[in-house]
Amino acid sequence: MSTTLITGGTVVSATGRAEADVLIDGATIAAVLAPGSQLLGTDLAASVDTVVDATGKYVIPGGIDAHTHMELPFGGTNASDTFETGTRAAAWGGTTTIIDFAVQRYGERVQDGLAAWHAKAEGECAIDYGFHQIIGGIDDDSLAAMRGLLDEGISSFKLFMAYPGVFYSDDAQVLKAMQVSAETGLLTMMHAENGPAIDVLAAQLADAGKIAPSYHGVARAWQLEEEATHRAIMIANLTGAPLYVVHVSAKQAVEQLAAARDKGWNVFGETCPQYLYLSLEEQLGAFSAEWGQFEGAKWVCSTPLRSRAEGHQDHMWQALRTNDLQMVSTDHCPFCMKGQKDLGLADFRAIPNGIGSVEHRMDLMYQGVVTGRITLERWVELTSTTPARMFGLYGRKGVIQPGADGDAVVYDPSGHTSIGYGDGRTHHMNMDHSAWEGFEIDGHVDTVVSRGRVIVDAGRYLGSKGDGRFLRRGLSQYLV
Ligand code: URP
Ligand code: ZN
Ligand code: ZN
Ligand code: ZN
Repeated sequence: MSTTLITGGTVVSATGRAEADVLIDGATIAAVLAPGSQLLGTDLAASVDTVVDATGKYVIPGGIDAHTHMELPFGGTNASDTFETGTRAAAWGGTTTIIDFAVQRYGERVQDGLAAWHAKAEGECAIDYGFHQIIGGIDDDSLAAMRGLLDEGISSFKLFMAYPGVFYSDDAQVLKAMQVSAETGLLTMMHAENGPAIDVLAAQLADAGKIAPSYHGVARAWQLEEEATHRAIMIANLTGAPLYVVHVSAKQAVEQLAAARDKGWNVFGETCPQYLYLSLEEQLGAFSAEWGQFEGAKWVCSTPLRSRAEGHQDHMWQALRTNDLQMVSTDHCPFCMKGQKDLGLADFRAIPNGIGSVEHRMDLMYQGVVTGRITLERWVELTSTTPARMFGLYGRKGVIQPGADGDAVVYDPSGHTSIGYGDGRTHHMNMDHSAWEGFEIDGHVDTVVSRGRVIVDAGRYLGSKGDGRFLRRGLSQYLV
């Protein structure tokens, strides 16, 4: 067992910051010490195997991205990051845990979908990983199987009010699944958009020759996110299910969540960097020499990017400050333009939905600190501590304290990166473009420690595939 000392830095938690040294013994944090502490009269730094110098830098708990889709089959293709490439990219970006979505489709057994996901991930991951379970077909068998999920280390499942014919559940199915959620304590995660109504609008647009990517955002109107969010909240309240709404992008949906929370209900929401920074006008409506109007396909995701003129992005930032939204995940679901997104060249409905961001989440959210929109502590809370509590990992993950896993990131506030692609490629995700090209990032992930191992340091990747372990999660620690 080797020992590592992260010395000279400012340790930041969700509740404060202090100059301190972090001693990791094997895979576990052993102590958080006053700077320059001694052991039996000698400097601790002289007696450990590895010293990481964090002078002038922040030391934060490793990031937890609670919403990723490695290798997700979607739109006739698979998300382009495997567990190997996607988790390595996450590590480069200061994320040491992901929670990915195992998939059960209509007609499949939940147990088989889960086993298939284990087979994809096992021995491949650079960092620790857990699973939520997508329930794409609710019937008596899957409802019974859901009761066994906690024994498998899975304490949350995702339902879809969108994507009819793919993952969609109708209200009757949602009600039945939420009854199981209430009974077991499993957290219901909801994709809250009215899919049947969206599909009508999308077909009408396509029939009228409106086939460009920007119409994806027109069809997926904010009213249909607000309405589905409200419906999910009310069915959750009726059944007693705890509810977590994923990838919230419409300010009106936030207002629904805030109203439920003001009543004291167990209702939570996440947003994603794309809904804080990007818009329907600038990205979905983009034009390039290479792709023409199809450039916008890079940003086709659901829920969609929203109008900046309507003020959704600023409202998401505000909700992160007021805790109307509790955390930020990426919904990392990358597809290349060539051979994947271009399936929808003739019809926006055939563009696989998703954006790749797993590598940039910590940096993108740190820009909120730089611009004064959130505090340093709130950055840690939104990206690590709350995800750990929300999904039953806290104590082991999400905090730097004795007994926790030795996951930490040394973050240099004076670093800078211009996110680029082509010759200036700055990412490690398996994509032929970047949704974040041209973004200027203040701050830099210098060193990443995962369960006591330095896996990224000074621009080098030092880990190996299979370092990451499956995390058995308990029930949410965030419920009131
Ligand atoms: O566009 C998205 N979000 N793709 C991934 C699937 C989902 O709905 O989360
Ligand atoms: Zn979704
Ligand atoms: Zn997703
Ligand atoms: Zn640096």
